[in-house]
Amino acid sequence: MSWRTASKAKWLASLPGVSEDEPLASRTSFGIGGPADFFVEMSRPQAIEELIEGCAERGIPYLLLGAGTNLLIADAGVDGLVLRVVNREHHVDGRQVRAGAGLKMMRLARIVADAGLRGFEFAIGVPGTVGGAVYQNAGCWGKELREVLVEVEGFMPSAGKKTWKPADLKFGYRTSALKEGALKGGLVVEATIQLERGDGEQAKALMAKLTRERGETQPIKTKNCGSVFKNPPGDSAGRLVQAAGLKGAREGSAVVSTMHGNFIVNEGGATAADVKVLIERIQAEVRRRFNIELETEVEMVGRFKG
Ligand code: EPU
Repeated sequence: MSWRTASKAKWLASLPGVSEDEPLASRTSFGIGGPADFFVEMSRPQAIEELIEGCAERGIPYLLLGAGTNLLIADAGVDGLVLRVVNREHHVDGRQVRAGAGLKMMRLARIVADAGLRGFEFAIGVPGTVGGAVYQNAGCWGKELREVLVEVEGFMPSAGKKTWKPADLKFGYRTSALKEGALKGGLVVEATIQLERGDGEQAKALMAKLTRERGETQPIKTKNCGSVFKNPPGDSAGRLVQAAGLKGAREGSAVVSTMHGNFIVNEGGATAADVKVLIERIQAEVRRRFNIELETEVEMVGRFKG
């Protein structure tokens, strides 16, 4: 808790809507994790920008949270401020659509289909928000956000408002410069995507079919964080976990899904420590058997030990 001084804590506590020691587990799809030192939920971009500027000036760490669908939050919680971004406005303008960072990708997929646009059906398989999808170049069924993204309105403390083109965001497989590069700490305010005109009913039929199929291969009704590992080049993490005989492997209430080897399911009351041990067991066994390093896709945040 090295960030913490009485004056910084007092400043945070004085801000409207900010709460202290706020549990985060229920704000993640995994249902796991300790409290945020301070927490706030905000929709107005200007207010969000001022707040992260204030944090940056004071050296207070902040974590921008969306739907919490790709996170493993430490049992001991998270330093500083956790700011849940919930701006959900959207605007369709011909083939281009602007969407607030807090809008769910699945919701946006239905909105654009209703507007008679095609090419965003893959988003029905992305559980998180638009902001989170930009942050990690989310994708499904072989398509990624970067393929339809035109630009992002953002904000960077001490540099102000920014318009980022896809090239600025340095997208990679489930990553961007916001996650791992020069834009770390930057805020996604809104994303503009460009799609094709087409039959919205066909888009909806395709999304219904894809969702049905996803329900047959992934444990979508459980508490989980999506894919735990990135697919190694030319292979599939789920296949490797299965081949290592680890489907059903358990640590406390954290279990490797018997449906899909790249999912860990919280059966109820699993801790982040349980999940971390299970992840390390899988990595060790896949390394031992196949000499392959599985890298985590889930982002581990907060006060993890060791
Ligand atoms: N497989 C197995 N055993 C398993 C799981 C999979 O043998 O337990 C085999 C499948 O039979 C298939 C291959 O592995 O031949 C690939 O599996 P799947 O089609 O389920 O896709 P995936 O590569 O495991 C990726 C994304 C998912 C996305 C699906 C559908 C990654 C790490 N995962 O999964 O994304 O939903 O494709 O397109 O890129 C996520 O990012 O959180 C996520 C769930």
